[in-house]
Formats: sequence, C-alpha cells, structure tokens
Amino acid sequence: MCDEKYTAAVITVSDRASRGEREDGSGPVLVDLLRARGYEVVYTRIVPDERDVIERVLTDVAASDVALVLTTGGTGFSPRDVTPEATAAVCERMAPGIPEAMRAASMAITPRACLSREAAGIRGRTLIVNLPGSPKAARENIEAVIDPIAHGLRILRGGVADCAAEAGVARP
Ligand code: MTE
Repeated sequence: MCDEKYTAAVITVSDRASRGEREDGSGPVLVDLLRARGYEVVYTRIVPDERDVIERVLTDVAASDVALVLTTGGTGFSPRDVTPEATAAVCERMAPGIPEAMRAASMAITPRACLSREAAGIRGRTLIVNLPGSPKAARENIEAVIDPIAHGLRILRGGVADCAAEAGVARP
C-alpha cells in the first residue's frame, strides 16, 4: 500500500491494440493492481509503437504532475519495440535499479525475462517505469518493485528527507 494517495497513469504501447485489432490485456491488469495498492489512476491511454508518440504522451503526463507512470509493451527485440528509448529520451535521471530488480525477480520465473529492455527514470516529479506487454509479464514485473517504489515516490515528491531515519537506522 502507498501511505499517501499518489496519482498514476497507465500507457499501453501496442500497434495492434491502438488500431483496435486486439484487446488491451495488460493495461486493465495494471490499473486494477495500482488501485488495489491505493493509487488513484487518473489517466489511461493506448498508443502505437511510435517513438515520437510515446515521448509526447509521457511528456504530457509528466507535465500534469502524475506521480507514477507505468508503460506496458514495446520493451522487447522487435524492430518496432522503442518504449525504453522513448522513456530515456524524456527522463532527466534514470533509475536503473528498478528494471534491474524486475529482471532479477523475473529470471526466477522465465529465462526470457532477460529479453525485456525495460527502463525506468524520472522526469520532474514523475517516475516512469516500463513493463513488458503481456498481462502476466507486466504483473510479475511490477509486483517485484511496487513496494520500494512507494518509498521512492515519497523521496521524489518531498515527503522523506532522510531514508535512514525513516527506516529507524541510527546514524553514527
Ligand atoms: N518477465 C516476466 N516476469 N514474465 C514473462 O513472461 N516475458 C519476457 C520478458 N519479461 C516475461 C518477462 C519476454 S518473452 C519478452 S520478449 C520480454 O519480456 C519483452 O516483452 P515486450 O516486448 O512485450 O515488452
């Protein structure tokens, strides 16, 4: 659970879902998961695997000061998979520990987890986290990091000045 009620957005990146040729499976799964964790989901959108479109939607959502943006899809090896590149282009600071942790946890489930090039980073006061496109993979990845993300959002958005003090760790 996140202590404060943070806002969140879910962006599904898929050519076929954006054309209405297949249902968006992972977006609704992520919306449900976020709501169950206390997030207020204020925006959802399906976009094609076009780097400029993805960059624009991420920029717009961050400009509206949404705390957490989850993207799903476009992290693999297909020539059309450009979500991590779009994410890196709009982020001012990357947060590599988040995808490292997701891939490490996911490798215990499937060796194909190493094929996700998912990235995470910060634009302004917004944390953007990429997830793979299948509902199962998206859920498995976000569940590995959703608890520490709440702590990260508190720091990012000015709630915690000192991690160690919050964790009850004595300073020498
Ligand atoms: N991670 C988990 N936890 N579970 C999975 O089933 N699938 C992998 C990987 N990560 C998977 C996973 C596969 S098969 C691929 S190709 C990549 O995510 C990229 O997925 P994407 O292209 O849909 O973003």
